[in-house]
Amino acid sequence: MNFTVAIDGPAAAGKGTISEQVAEAFGFAHLDTGLIYRATAARVLEGEDAIEAARDLRPADLRRDDLRTPEVAQMASQIAAQSEVRAALTEFQKDFARRDGGAVLDGRDIGTVICPLAEVKLFVTASPEVRAERRFLELSGKGMDVTRAGVLDDVVARDTRDAQRETAPMKAASDAITIDTSEMDIGTAVAKAIGHVREALAR
Ligand code: DC
Repeated sequence: MNFTVAIDGPAAAGKGTISEQVAEAFGFAHLDTGLIYRATAARVLEGEDAIEAARDLRPADLRRDDLRTPEVAQMASQIAAQSEVRAALTEFQKDFARRDGGAVLDGRDIGTVICPLAEVKLFVTASPEVRAERRFLELSGKGMDVTRAGVLDDVVARDTRDAQRETAPMKAASDAITIDTSEMDIGTAVAKAIGHVREALAR
């Protein structure tokens, strides 16, 4: 069975948790496509050329434990604006989406570019302040030296760059269902997402 769930949206809106839970609920495979850009960015921060790093990306790169830092996130957003970097990473994502047994992919351009024919498209969003607060709690909880104002600046800078780039900008597909989690707990958001997938599977 081929069945693709595309989940897009800005940083820290809850799409990671929603994607994991949807995948688990239906036994689908899950790909966090942001990790691919982060893994490329981590190699760029070590001095490699972005396009070469993207073309040479290996499974072990995705397992690095230093991909969740603000520095890597900003660099990921910067290199993600280069069309050659995106092109180098496209085929892997498309293949993953078509794998047998169903797949959930989350990112910025899944419903618009990678899987325009996905059976379910969700756009998960929340206000910048709410998202920055969540990211601040996550990063400070891991012992990172961050401030609320700094995290908000980072989140806004990244979203602006991701939404305004020319190649595959972050946006909701015209047929995507938007879930705004600003005033919603994560359990409710997950339940809504699962409901949309269940409906599509029954069609
Ligand atoms: O989802 P994330 O925060 O891990 O993503 C890090 C950066 O990678 C994000 O700011 C932009 C880029 N990205 C992208 O351009 N397209 C995707 N499908 C996923 C991530």
